[in-house]
Amino acid sequence: MSLITALNRRYATKAFDATKKLPEDIVAQLFALLRLSPSSTNIQPWHFIVASSDEGKARLAKGAGGNYSYNASKILNASHVVLFCARTQIDEKHLQKVLAAEERDGRFATAPEFKAAAHNTRTAYLKEHQYSKKDVPHWLEKQIYLNMGGFLLGASVLEIDAVPLEGIDQALLDAEFDLNERDLTAVTAVALGYRAESDFNAALPKSRLAADDIFTII
Ligand SMILES: Cc1cc2nc3c(=O)[nH]c(=O)nc-3n(C[C@H](O)[C@H](O)[C@H](O)COP(=O)(O)O)c2cc1C
Repeated sequence: MSLITALNRRYATKAFDATKKLPEDIVAQLFALLRLSPSSTNIQPWHFIVASSDEGKARLAKGAGGNYSYNASKILNASHVVLFCARTQIDEKHLQKVLAAEERDGRFATAPEFKAAAHNTRTAYLKEHQYSKKDVPHWLEKQIYLNMGGFLLGASVLEIDAVPLEGIDQALLDAEFDLNERDLTAVTAVALGYRAESDFNAALPKSRLAADDIFTII
């Protein structure tokens, strides 16, 4: 599939066909998309709760009550729903876990001195966000959105329909999954599956600001 085809094929799916489930090989590729996303200094400040059972989706749908009830049927009728969680802080334990993974994956095999350099760079970035920019949660959340952007495009390449769901009660989902106790917080979700024939949004044309409005070519 060409890039332009994938970009145009992707749209915010408003109604899913509850009878259609994602095949396992597609789910494995979606997991790869989440895992292989880039992040600043490779800090990977995320955790993903993936619901595919009715029970799991019902738990996630608790976050789509009240003002967010317009999102409940998307969660319940999707094949899979991913809740994107961000770390609320980065401690030495997490830094060491990332470093150990890089070592295990062979990043320092030919140049062992890169190990200390990688750790020092990551620590320096973290300290800058802790003490100078004072925006650690915001910085970590940005990494989540970056992951979600790649995820949505990748899902389209896999011919999967999806909708990002920022309209959820993050605090309620934090409590539902005991996220804060694990230094995590719910940020956003993506529901995935196959569009229902009734989805009005599938036939609507894409609408974006004109190129002249958004590009400055220098
Ligand atoms: C961060 C983000 C959050 C969104 N949250 C919701 C949501 O809660 N419910 C929903 O139906 N659509 C949601 N959308 C879909 C947007 O409304 C949609 O992407 C936008 O109107 C552009 O349309 P398109 O995705 O079909 O091209 C969200 C999109 C993004 C990027």
